[in-house]
Amino acid sequence: MEIQSRKADHIQLCLTGDVEFQQTTTGLEQYRFIHSCLPELDRDDIDLHTVFLGKSLSAPLLISSMTGGTELAKTINYRLAEVAQHFRLAMGVGSQRVAVENPHLADTFTVRKLAPNALLFANLGAVQLNYGYGIDECQRMVDWLTADALILHLNPLQECVQTKGDTNFKGLIAKINQLCHRLPVPVVVKEVGNGISAGMAQLLIEAGVVAIDVAGAGGTSWAKVEGERATDPIQRQLGETFADWGIPTAECITGIRSIAPTIPLIASGGLKNGVDGAKAIALGANLIGFARPFLQAAHTSTEALHIFTKILLAELTTVLFCTGNPNFSSLQKSNCLVRL
Ligand SMILES: Cc1cc2nc3c(=O)[nH]c(=O)nc-3n(C[C@H](O)[C@H](O)[C@H](O)COP(=O)(O)O)c2cc1C
Repeated sequence: MEIQSRKADHIQLCLTGDVEFQQTTTGLEQYRFIHSCLPELDRDDIDLHTVFLGKSLSAPLLISSMTGGTELAKTINYRLAEVAQHFRLAMGVGSQRVAVENPHLADTFTVRKLAPNALLFANLGAVQLNYGYGIDECQRMVDWLTADALILHLNPLQECVQTKGDTNFKGLIAKINQLCHRLPVPVVVKEVGNGISAGMAQLLIEAGVVAIDVAGAGGTSWAKVEGERATDPIQRQLGETFADWGIPTAECITGIRSIAPTIPLIASGGLKNGVDGAKAIALGANLIGFARPFLQAAHTSTEALHIFTKILLAELTTVLFCTGNPNFSSLQKSNCLVRL
C-alpha cells in the first residue's frame, strides 16, 4: 500500500507540482546549431531511423521509465505503449518492485501485448539488490513485459530525501556485475535526474552494463518531488537544499563519450523538445529520453500523446534538414554544433 501511494503521489506531483530544477540547467542551451541556408536535401528524404541494442526504431526516441502499480499508472503505461508501438520507439516502465511485492499489480506493467515490436525496458532500483532482490525477482520483472533489457536505476539522492528511503548502497557494483553476467537479457543503468559522471560510467561499464542512460540534471528534480511528499521537516529541508544537485545532462554526455566512445548512450534529463534532443545526439548520444513531457501528454489523452510525439519527430527532422544532414550519423560527424 505504501509503495502504491508513493507511485500515485509521484504522478500527481509530476503533473501539478513545481518539481523542476530552479537554477541548474541541462547545459544544452550553451550550444547552437549552425544553420544551413542551402541544405541540398529534400526534407522528405530525411531518415530518423536508428538501431539500438539490436532493435530497429523509427527514431532515436525513448519514453523514459516512469510508472506502474496503480490504475492511473496502468492507463498511462498502456497509452505510452500504444504510442511506442505506433511510432516504433523505445519505452521503459517504472520500478516494478511494487508488483514483486503485490503480484496482482503485475498487469499495470504488462505492456508487451500493446507494443509487440517496441524496444521495452523493465526497471528496478539497483539499491534493491541490497534489500533482498536478486536474479529471480529481476527475471520475473523481465518476463512480465518480455523486456528486451533490464534498466537498473541509481537514485542515491532520491533515497536520501524519501521518507524511510533505502540508503545502503554498499557493495552494489559487485552485485550489478553478478546480475550483468547471470541475467539472460542485457542490463542498462540510468540515474533519475542527477546524472552519471565519466568515472562512474567507467566502473559500470567494467561491471558489464551494456548501455548507460545519463538521466542528468536540468529537468525533473527528484529531490524536489520527494521533499514535497515528505512530512518530516528534515526530509523537506533536504529536498529544498538538494533541489538543484546533479551533473547537467550535456556534461554527462560529453564526459562519458570522452572515456567510452562506443558505449550505447542514452541522453535524458530535462530534454524539452527535438532541438534539445538533436543537440544531445550531436554531442554523442544514441537515444534521447523524455519522462515528464510524455507523462503530461499521456495523462491528457492518447491523442495528445500522438501529437506530442509527432511534434518531436518533426523537430528532429527539421534540425537535420536545416543543418544539411540526411540522418543522425551524418549529424554526429558534421561539426555543426557549436558551443556559445
Ligand atoms: C512520474 C515519474 C515517475 C518516475 N519513476 C521512475 C522509476 O520508477 N524508475 C526510473 O528509473 N525512473 C523514474 N523516473 C525518472 C525518469 O525516468 C527520468 O530519469 C527523470 O524524470 C528525468 O527526466 P525528465 O527531466 O525528462 O523528467 C520517473 C519520472 C517520472 C516523471
